[in-house]
Amino acid sequence: MSSATPGRSGGLTRRALLARGAGAAGVLALGAYGVSRGASRPAAADIVLRPARTTLELGSRRVETLAYGSKLPGPELRLKQGQPVRIRVENALPDEDTSVHWHGIALNNEADGVPGMTQDPIAPGSSYVYEFTPPDAGTFLYHSHVGLQLDQGLYGPLIVEPRRDELTYDREAVLMLDDWLDGLNGSPGDQLRRLRSMGAMGHGGGMGMSPPRPAVGERHVSLARRPAAPGSLAALANELKGGRGDPGDVRYPLYLINGRPPEDPPTVSVKRGERLRLRLINAAADTIFSFVVEGHALTVTHADGQPVEPVETDALVIGMGERYDVILEARGRGVQRIVATPLGKPGRASAALRYADARSGAAPPSAGAPAAARRTVSYTDLRAPDAPPPPGQPRVVRLDLGMAMARYGWTIGGQEFSEADPVELGRGDPVRFLMRNATMMPHPMHLHGHFFRPVRPDGRGPLKDTIVLPAMSEAGLDWVPDNPGTWAFHCHNVYHQEAGMMRSVEVGA
Ligand code: C2O
Ligand code: CU
Repeated sequence: MSSATPGRSGGLTRRALLARGAGAAGVLALGAYGVSRGASRPAAADIVLRPARTTLELGSRRVETLAYGSKLPGPELRLKQGQPVRIRVENALPDEDTSVHWHGIALNNEADGVPGMTQDPIAPGSSYVYEFTPPDAGTFLYHSHVGLQLDQGLYGPLIVEPRRDELTYDREAVLMLDDWLDGLNGSPGDQLRRLRSMGAMGHGGGMGMSPPRPAVGERHVSLARRPAAPGSLAALANELKGGRGDPGDVRYPLYLINGRPPEDPPTVSVKRGERLRLRLINAAADTIFSFVVEGHALTVTHADGQPVEPVETDALVIGMGERYDVILEARGRGVQRIVATPLGKPGRASAALRYADARSGAAPPSAGAPAAARRTVSYTDLRAPDAPPPPGQPRVVRLDLGMAMARYGWTIGGQEFSEADPVELGRGDPVRFLMRNATMMPHPMHLHGHFFRPVRPDGRGPLKDTIVLPAMSEAGLDWVPDNPGTWAFHCHNVYHQEAGMMRSVEVGA
């Protein structure tokens, strides 16, 4: 087994990871499932991914779903910065097209995995070879970019190892968060049909979400322990947890970390005194999580895979498609609870942090009274490590987020994707996407093929590829379209994306 995803046997040590790095072609990849070396085939691929229909066990539940191989999440892929890779995707689904998008990687357009934009969909029984060279190290994810397949099991972690190590730590673990309904509460397709049949009512309010619970004791505050500033992620967490505001369109019976439900949590093993790097990835379709490790502060080192000036926090708010890397100084003992709370929705996902000295059979303390106030990092707390060059006067493109009036539809710049004009940009010409979220729901907006910086007076906004806009908030994203091709810009709520919240962005050659 070669997954660094923590399992019952605990995480992999840093040394083991580095040792594996000596493997062929610099491609560290390869979990034991759904992946094989393709060396004997004519068009040799370094990695093969095989999306298929399969049965998964989620604790005591068995569900029929789609996954890469037969495991959830799909195999952890480890690539090397600057080293070319060939990944063949063989569509073994009985009757559905698919594709794979390498979320966050600024790669060549034809490897981006968006059917109808960068490639034809991969039909059942056929395959597609993705060839690219990851220019940046970091924590990413891969997932299907067809329909609602992301809300089934077609996602997995994608780690790009840096050319040179920039961070010292003893051990690492990937924690992938997800909301799950497929096979338990109908299918994602059933959910979309339900939303469509409710028409504009599907935009929130009375659509089957259980009544918001009264605010529990946990309160999110700023890093300076001040009340959360309006518009911040800390404020968003308070609002949604307190039942003020609309968390999403879909209710989920189950929340998962690394494919495991709370009653069968994955374990991250650690020794006291170690520095543990956690790579946090939100692969959910409709759920923003707040994340904590009981009894431990977390030092944020990367946002969406890219380095930031380290800041210490107690909690992180992670939107769909966002990633954070944090360092945890292992100064506790026993077994501690790792909790991802779906904002504004009942339930939770959890894992266990187990110290080497824990009694065997020791269980995490039961979820007692939540901490009174959790310092929670917001975007304005994150700073790029180096001042970026001044971008020059950007061309402003307004892309307000809205909804269709008569039916379940979501818009960018007043247009649903099916009828939208492409956004045409000159290569190298700085641009500012200005967005006002005129809806009552948060939207994690994701740009393909590039990083952007949230606009800030000091110009030190962190590089990101996905950013959450709380309801009725505004954001400006500065970026330089330097990667030619046609790129998707969309909400990473997969139901919103399916219902029109996507645009194509054409960057000239
Ligand atoms: Cu992770 Cu176009 O998406
Ligand atoms: Cu959205």
